Amino acid sequence: MNIILLGPPGAGKGTQARKLEEKFGLVQLSTGDMLRSSVARGEPLGLEAKMLMDKGQLVSDDIITGMIRERIKQPDCSRGFILDGFPRTVSQAESLDVMLAACQKEIGAVIELKVDDEALVDRVSGRFTCSQCGAGYHKKYKPLKIEGTCDVCGGHDFTCRADDNAETMKTRLKAFYDQTAPILPYYQSKGLLKTVNGMAPMNEVQEELESIIKHAHNSNKGM
Ligand code: AP5
Repeated sequence: MNIILLGPPGAGKGTQARKLEEKFGLVQLSTGDMLRSSVARGEPLGLEAKMLMDKGQLVSDDIITGMIRERIKQPDCSRGFILDGFPRTVSQAESLDVMLAACQKEIGAVIELKVDDEALVDRVSGRFTCSQCGAGYHKKYKPLKIEGTCDVCGGHDFTCRADDNAETMKTRLKAFYDQTAPILPYYQSKGLLKTVNGMAPMNEVQEELESIIKHAHNSNKGM
């Protein structure tokens, strides 16, 4: 089963994708993470993308669709994947349809996480990550159990994303409403779109997502 998680910056796509990865054995494909890895490796593509990411603007459709086209051909994706942060424009959604058809794959469900703008700014402003193992935290909503120490690996060094500030969030939100939200009717017309209240506590959001995926899986089996 292949899933798309849609939602504005800070909606909880990455948080929930990691939980679904564990629960259903799916592979999380985050275009944001792929771009940040490319930046960290100093690749030309990453450096070109970094300027746009730091300003909160979208990277070009060609770069992103090229990355996903290569990634979904990898053997681990045969057990199913969760797209997190892709597609983000109608053009990306149309390219995805073409690339899935070419490898006889399809999308089982598109799930939108709906969260108020005010809460989104609060969420990204408090977010930080362990530099050693990548575990994600939030000052208020997912604090460290022991101050200054990663719960997962015991590391003591943490980083914040350059684009996680109130000013850049304005551009990221504008990009979401102008360029990404038009995808919602695209998937609604295909009968694939489900909307989840992303304002609920993380475990409740997780339960609702799991129930949607199980239902979509059972409906597909009956076809
Ligand atoms: P990307 O990395 O995809 O960032 P984003 O979409 O802005 O989403 P985030 O990662 O910020 O948020 P999230 O929804 O994953 O939230 P999270 O789970 O971390 O993209 C970054 C940039 O790359 C883009 O701006 C663009 O430049 C470029 N890019 C990427 N993909 C692209 C594409 N397809 N096309 C063009 N450009 C592209 O949660 C946030 C925080 O809230 C966490 O601290 C978490 O603990 C907390 N939290 C989560 N859920 C809850 C809850 N229910 N209650 C309370 N707190 C919660």
